[in-house]
Amino acid sequence: MSKVKIGVLISGGGTNLQALIDAINGGSINGNIAVVISDRDNAHGIERAKKHGIDGIVISRKDYKNKGEFFDTLINTLKEYEVDLIVLAGFLTILSKNFVEVFNEKIINIHPALIPSFCGEGYYGQKVHTAALDYGIKVSGATVHFVDEKADTGPIILQEAVPVMEDDTPETLALRVLQVEHKILPEAVRLYCDGKLIIEGRKVKQIN
Ligand code: GRF
Repeated sequence: MSKVKIGVLISGGGTNLQALIDAINGGSINGNIAVVISDRDNAHGIERAKKHGIDGIVISRKDYKNKGEFFDTLINTLKEYEVDLIVLAGFLTILSKNFVEVFNEKIINIHPALIPSFCGEGYYGQKVHTAALDYGIKVSGATVHFVDEKADTGPIILQEAVPVMEDDTPETLALRVLQVEHKILPEAVRLYCDGKLIIEGRKVKQIN
């Protein structure tokens, strides 16, 4: 089976990107990262990509007078790299309907909560963990899902839970969840690249 060409979209530090790079370099994934694109100028994840000889490109939302032109550039760039799979690893721009249609069922996202809790518009980064702790939850975790036209609502691929401690802060909870993210995102990408994921309506099934 030929290697899957992966495009990774980021906005920040890129620790999930790093986990994916490490998994690929470890030989467990039948895919290669063709390009990393950030929608912000100063994303450290771009440096991580370049350190591993991966093209890192900034397509900054603020450089475009409207979202349409931004997404046209983003789509055309991903097509130039002939990507077969797009991984959102901390990408903060909500995808346009057109983008999701162009790459239908080929977009995977990682979210730092157990969807459908604490997700959707406005739930990103520390805001997720602050809301979770304010609610008084006892268990949190991470979710990897396919992306559909709404925020964080696509069919779920993998989830893993973590305990919430009484003295947790958003920062300590974020770190515990991040450890799980770094495990299940590469695992979901491995399954995808091995052709083992089947989407049936709202459900994702793994075939052996
Ligand atoms: C992660 O918590 C991820 O779940 C969320 O954004 C954060 C990205 O972190 N979507 P990093 O840039 O991968 O370190």
